[in-house]
Amino acid sequence: MQINLHQLSAASALCCNSLLVTIRWFTWPILKRLMNSFEKWYCGSALWRYLTRRQLLPWMLHGTVLGEHVLELGAGAGPATIELANRAPRITSVEYEHHSAVKLHTRAMHSSVSVIQGDAGALPFPDATFSSAIAILMLHHLKSSELQNRAFSEIHRVLRPSGVFLAFDIPNGWIHRVAHIKSTFVPLDPATAARRLIASGLSKVTLDSRSGGFLIRAMRAN
Ligand SMILES: C[S@@+](CC[C@H](N)C(=O)[O-])C[C@H]1O[C@@H](n2cnc3c(N)ncnc32)[C@H](O)[C@@H]1O
Repeated sequence: MQINLHQLSAASALCCNSLLVTIRWFTWPILKRLMNSFEKWYCGSALWRYLTRRQLLPWMLHGTVLGEHVLELGAGAGPATIELANRAPRITSVEYEHHSAVKLHTRAMHSSVSVIQGDAGALPFPDATFSSAIAILMLHHLKSSELQNRAFSEIHRVLRPSGVFLAFDIPNGWIHRVAHIKSTFVPLDPATAARRLIASGLSKVTLDSRSGGFLIRAMRAN
């Protein structure tokens, strides 16, 4: 049987197309699921707990007085929660996902931590409830800039005068985009963050970048 060049290139094009379809239909969903599971697994891992306790929190809390009632936003598996409970008399942790909130509630049962399933953009607390608020890797999980601005306004509302808001987050970059293929990633632009926080009512905003992330400090003036 004779195969001419035209038939050969048609056959290889068909092969390439089938390969691309196979990748798209089978490999891509598996990859997306793996990346999502990786993020969840990493945030619940002993390594992240260790880094939060030994590196991140000491950096974030340096020179800050948390006061007697701390609001933690987007607590996840709680790598910072119990550590915060060692540093302040009362912690209220808000977590959006029901399953994570229930798990953390069970873990924190015998501590001074209250866990509430809720949304950082619609906080179920009266004005001026907290002496400080902290959000670790939570802001980029809010689905739009508008929802982030709403969360900033809510944080301002529930902080007492002179209350401090601390947030650690990651900038835009391909590695973070890949790691969030199947979950939300709306990175906060450090260049515009201060302006947005001030627009929400917060003041004395500072930003500090280190080790691939940045720390925001802001205050409710009155
Ligand atoms: C990357 S995890 C970080 C968890 C934890 N702070 C840590 O350091 O491992 C982000 C968490 O924010 C939560 N989250 C997402 N949207 C939220 C919202 N609107 N309000 C409160 N928490 C939210 C997610 O469910 C998730 O547990």
